[in-house]
Amino acid sequence: MMSQSLITMSYIVATILFILSLSGLSHQETARRGNYYGMLGMAIAIIATALNGSFNAYVILIIALLIGGAIGVTAAFKVEMTQMPELVAIMHSLVGMAAVLVGYANFMDPSATLIGVEKTIHEVEIYVGVLIGAVTFSGSVIAFGKLSERISGKPLLLPGRHWFNLGLLIAAIFLGRLFLQQAETGSGIVPLLIMTGIALIFGIHMVMAIGGADMPVVISMLNSYSGWAAAATGFMLSNDLLIVTGALVGSSGAILSYIMCRAMNRNFISVIAGGFGTASGGEAAAIEGEVQPVTPAETAELLLAAKNLVIIPGYGMAVAQAQHTVNEITRLLREKGKKVRFAIHPVAGRMPGHMNVLLAEAKVPYDIVFEMDEVNEDFPHVDVSIVIGANDIVNPSALNDPNSPIAGMPVLECWKGGTTIVLKRSMASGYAGIGNPLFVMDNTRMLFGDANATLQEVLKALKG
Ligand code: TAP
Repeated sequence: MMSQSLITMSYIVATILFILSLSGLSHQETARRGNYYGMLGMAIAIIATALNGSFNAYVILIIALLIGGAIGVTAAFKVEMTQMPELVAIMHSLVGMAAVLVGYANFMDPSATLIGVEKTIHEVEIYVGVLIGAVTFSGSVIAFGKLSERISGKPLLLPGRHWFNLGLLIAAIFLGRLFLQQAETGSGIVPLLIMTGIALIFGIHMVMAIGGADMPVVISMLNSYSGWAAAATGFMLSNDLLIVTGALVGSSGAILSYIMCRAMNRNFISVIAGGFGTASGGEAAAIEGEVQPVTPAETAELLLAAKNLVIIPGYGMAVAQAQHTVNEITRLLREKGKKVRFAIHPVAGRMPGHMNVLLAEAKVPYDIVFEMDEVNEDFPHVDVSIVIGANDIVNPSALNDPNSPIAGMPVLECWKGGTTIVLKRSMASGYAGIGNPLFVMDNTRMLFGDANATLQEVLKALKG
């Protein structure tokens, strides 16, 4: 058993490690170290909590750790890089579920001894904890469905949906009052159960109403909610470390949501309320025109003739696992004296930083990887842009079709440069499910096929 001061000390060390972890994760160069800090912090937190003397069910704890650990390790080994976003979403749902279960367990705890104001505060903690937990749980399950394409990415826009949300909110507040009144006399389970149902419905409705292209905001928002759910669990269990950790995750997720909203030119409140940010009522313009296909050999010629090149990676690069070939081509072109830069859209791929992770894995130098804002102005001076498995993030209709579901979203304006070469397998749409006029523009060439396979051919032609 650890002494109280040692436990407090361990919690402080764990908290510092979590803060170092977050700051490490904000840069590609330090992300790996950030992960190690987080793992160490969590190990210290688990050991200190297990030894804090408040319980002695060690056998159950060890069995639970072994089962949970085995599931986690199996999932981590099995998951493909392209499935990471849905894995993260389902992990968020588990945090939500934990908050709900802890809330109910606390409520039904026969050994509870709190009285007076402290009892009321504890009941408020339970009610709020279950509420946030249930919204996080059901919202994350729907996000998982959407990200794994088991559920359509199209927004579900129910008539009067904002009134519906408002109704759910009012009902939750009313039930909260009833819960506190009934809890005085030892009951209250009925309002708690009804509110849980309402919160689950709200979570489902909130994420169902989000259009495909707005999903990044929802993911970071659910990330934030999972943090607040963990903090609520901390309050219910009177565990300071869980409160601090939850608040760290909650606030960093909220900052990320804000950054995502700014990147997408969306209003945060509108996205949370669901559907305000999406579509403007009309039909997106149909895409008309001829595509101009090219071969890998012709692509190599275009690349050799160019001096200033920009590579725009998207979700298809992750699917094709083309990052290593992309790196080889980049190296070769740079050896030939060409200026090669990467332009990263904030929502490229399926999770924040997705492209940066892939490029870092392939050892692309960090100093040639740029954010969208750093490159966008420069496209008129670019000779060739290579779009690798990207679609929505280079869709001009975001800027010039007010009826497009992605209207207003900033995109990489590669069409303003000399030639754009788009690598994809077909004319299929991207995540937002809309056509892309870039593919039929005069200065666009389409290189059809799996991006890794076609890039291998291009590399061969460049070497040959
Ligand atoms: P998308 O718009 O989804 O387009 C990806 C393109 O890659 C598809 O059109 C697909 O066309 C192509 N592709 C797939 N597999 C390929 C392969 N093996 N080889 C070559 N091409 C392949 O991706 P994006 O441009 O990166 O935009 C991201 C979208 O996802 C945005 O709408 C964004 O809002 C959304 N989203 C982002 C996030 C985050 S946080 N980043 C989270 C959720 C949703 P073919 O089928 O014709 O090959």
